Amino acid sequence: MDVYEAVTSRRAVRGFTDKLVPREVLERVLSAAAWSPSGSNLQPWHAYVLTGEPLAELKKRAGKRVATGDTWDEREYDMYPSVLKSPYHERRSAFGQERYGALGISREDWEARQRAASANWDCFGAPAALFCYIDRDLGLPQWSDLGMYLQTVMLLLRAEGLHSCPQMAWSVYRKTVAEVVSPPDGLILFCGMSIGFEDVTMDYIRTGRAPLHETVTFVEG
Ligand SMILES: Cc1cc2nc3c(=O)[nH]c(=O)nc-3n(C[C@H](O)[C@H](O)[C@H](O)COP(=O)(O)O)c2cc1C
Repeated sequence: MDVYEAVTSRRAVRGFTDKLVPREVLERVLSAAAWSPSGSNLQPWHAYVLTGEPLAELKKRAGKRVATGDTWDEREYDMYPSVLKSPYHERRSAFGQERYGALGISREDWEARQRAASANWDCFGAPAALFCYIDRDLGLPQWSDLGMYLQTVMLLLRAEGLHSCPQMAWSVYRKTVAEVVSPPDGLILFCGMSIGFEDVTMDYIRTGRAPLHETVTFVEG
């Protein structure tokens, strides 16, 4: 698979089969992803990979919290600004329509949307998940390094025939994740990532992208 194919075939997959992901494949992907760039080569990512019983336990604990209406853990970072200005607001609305429209859920059906979103806590059925932490003392450039690392992981997973779904959702239950992975003090959970083989029987709508001229400006001589 060439890089273009890896990039264009990667998408946030929200339905996985229970086929296990071999440990050696995960190690190969994560060893290669370690070559991701980072400012001054700080390599600020701390990744925890869960499979088997620990992942089942996490899904169980998170599912229980949702079922009992437990409130979210206090935030360590804001996922989005409280007011999302244009054009981000419109893009977010379009995403909601694509995501929930594919499931036949209307804009007004808040409960159905919540039910669909709750599949996050089952990692969409995935048999493996990665949780990516960053040191609380590090700043915005290092958070961006994490993004590069995570994208590299996702592209390498494509090269292995695997799919993924990055999940900031896990940050709202960060304490439950911490109970299972026991990170050292001083780390912030940025996001989780479900990993596995796609359940190709699941319907989905491919998310769109803004036209190039909206996000790229060529300044030419
Ligand atoms: C940092 C990050 C966090 C995300 N968190 C979630 C999440 O919690 N749950 C989810 O279903 N999708 C999540 N997504 C997936 C995005 O919704 C998805 O990447 C976006 O809509 C573009 O669609 P595509 O990845 O299928 O191309 C996240 C993506 C990123 C990059």
